[in-house]
Amino acid sequence: MTAPHHTTDRRFLFLLGSARPEGNTETLARIAAAELPAHVQRSWVRLSDVPLPPFEDLRHVGTGQYPEPVGNARGLLDATLAATDLVIASPLYWYSLSASTKLYLDHWSAWMRVPGVAFKERMAGKTMWAVTALSSADRAKADPLLGTLRNCAEFLGMHWGGALLGHGSAPGQVHTDTAALQGATSLFGRVSPDTPGADEVEGEDEGVSAVAAIG
Ligand SMILES: Cc1cc2nc3c(=O)[nH]c(=O)nc-3n(C[C@H](O)[C@H](O)[C@H](O)COP(=O)(O)O)c2cc1C
Repeated sequence: MTAPHHTTDRRFLFLLGSARPEGNTETLARIAAAELPAHVQRSWVRLSDVPLPPFEDLRHVGTGQYPEPVGNARGLLDATLAATDLVIASPLYWYSLSASTKLYLDHWSAWMRVPGVAFKERMAGKTMWAVTALSSADRAKADPLLGTLRNCAEFLGMHWGGALLGHGSAPGQVHTDTAALQGATSLFGRVSPDTPGADEVEGEDEGVSAVAAIG
């Protein structure tokens, strides 16, 4: 696996996958981001602001190659490749990723097959992080979401940074999960300059994205 990036040149892309703004997942992600060293670049993309077209499986059609992505897909591809760290901030929906987050990951399959992009090779060595909120008190209910992300990271030769889980149903409720709030403040701080994180955090600006910068 490619060596992880040094903290001095890290660029974090926060991908917000909730179907509502300023929900619990976003709250946790923003608390975590606030603890990043000032020089670390941060970009935020709300996936619902940059809707992707339905994913088409063209792997076995003709050459199996995909055309150059355009529009929001192009922007998301460029933002993804520009980042050293991808923070997938998806709420738990039906024990898994939100639809917009899953669709974004499905498009990775297309981007892997766009001639000249070398998506898989360029993803290797980046670090993936997970932030999620769930209304269940049983954190294990998020295992499918975390397993999906960990497996995706592994498939692309990415490092696993760590996961932050928070309990909440209505927006703002995660503020009552003190363990999650504590985890948010330490999620990125535990990464040494040379070593990616590897744990799940208990309980547990800004750069301008090529797609859509949000506050
Ligand atoms: C479509 C949908 C599916 C959900 N599925 C689950 C679930 O499987 N398990 C769970 O604990 N909570 C589930 N919830 C509750 C959300 O995870 C919870 O409200 C969370 O705080 C939403 O995150 P957000 O505030 O960042 O939008 C679901 C909510 C919605 C809207």
